[in-house]
Amino acid sequence: MDVMVELRAVTKRFGSFLAVNEVDLQIKAGEFITLLGPSGCGKTTLLRMISGFETPTTGAVLLEGKDVTREPPYRRDVNQVFQSYALFPHMTVQENISFGLRMKKVPRPEMEERVGAAVAMVSLGGMERRKPAQLSGGQRQRVALARAIVCRPKVLLLDEPLSALDAKLRHAMQVELKALQKKLGITFVFVTHDQEEALTMSDRIAVINKGRVEQIGDASQIYHRPKTTFVANFIGQANILRAAVLSRSGERARVQIEGGIELLVNAEHLAPGADSALLSIRPEKIALRKERQAAFESCFEAHVEEELFKGATDQLRLRTDSGLALTAVVANESSGQAALHAGDRVFCHLHPDDIVIVHEA
Ligand SMILES: Nc1ncnc2c1ncn2[C@@H]1O[C@H](COP(=O)(O)OP(=O)(O)OP(=O)(O)O)[C@@H](O)[C@H]1O
Ligand SMILES: [Mg+2]
Repeated sequence: MDVMVELRAVTKRFGSFLAVNEVDLQIKAGEFITLLGPSGCGKTTLLRMISGFETPTTGAVLLEGKDVTREPPYRRDVNQVFQSYALFPHMTVQENISFGLRMKKVPRPEMEERVGAAVAMVSLGGMERRKPAQLSGGQRQRVALARAIVCRPKVLLLDEPLSALDAKLRHAMQVELKALQKKLGITFVFVTHDQEEALTMSDRIAVINKGRVEQIGDASQIYHRPKTTFVANFIGQANILRAAVLSRSGERARVQIEGGIELLVNAEHLAPGADSALLSIRPEKIALRKERQAAFESCFEAHVEEELFKGATDQLRLRTDSGLALTAVVANESSGQAALHAGDRVFCHLHPDDIVIVHEA
């Protein structure tokens, strides 16, 4: 594995505040990695230590195996798109985007071609002569993006580069950016607190919580196998339930949640000898039927308490007879499945694979 960026036990303190706490991270060459986490968890601080605008309190930053912890930003082949654009106000769009290439003395025809391609990618054709003050926030963000990409650094750090764009443009740019990253082979370290963006764009996602990497993996691992309650709740929705372990036999274990409901789970994910566990169940994994189905290992009854229309899906609040509240999501108007409404009684079915054992965090 070619490691492009490596963080070794990196810690950053601001006074007594611990912003980044002992982070170990290896980013492969050509990888698209996303740092995902709530506001204030240390994402920007991590990026700034990779680019050199911030120095770790302890630990080391390596680029292609070389320790650059004390090297200034301009000595690193890393470009950063800042959360706050940082465009040159006196320069036009064209001049802003071509700035890095002019510094590198790239020949004029090549420069014009690369700038033209970058302008087209961010859909700013016709605005080349404007100054940043004559642009909207989303347009400025796109100039910042084009300016960084045009230089084709080995590593590009992107701090919420799409946050100011409307949903439609944002989706278009997600596709374009991902395609460009693959084509140019640039290593992307991308910051967002939009979970859907992280899931669709990334080769791997590092979920950050309070300055630590809580879990790292591909989108499917992070979504389907969250390790902690924090990851389960931060990426998508989750029903978190406390359960008592009743018995184990082979690869299955029988557990009991509130109200005496018994479920079958995968025993291998339970700690040996544990008598209790936390379960995470995604709302769309609860199979709701009007009749009891034998194909599922676990089944219990509930009624629909509330129905929320979400467009492609319906979100339902379920209440078991024992009073336990659960959230379920069903596809809207899916064929073969009767529509469910408030007041309806339903059978809730689960497979062991759809129940994930998580740790408290
Ligand atoms: N220069 C600084 N001095 C003191 N505290 C700082 C400094 N920079 C960041 N912090 C604190 O460190 C923590 C992490 O900040 P950081 O900017 O990395 O968060 P973030 O994950 O990027 O958040 P957001 O999603 O809101 O951009 C925050 O609590 C912030 O207040
Ligand atoms: Mg930030």
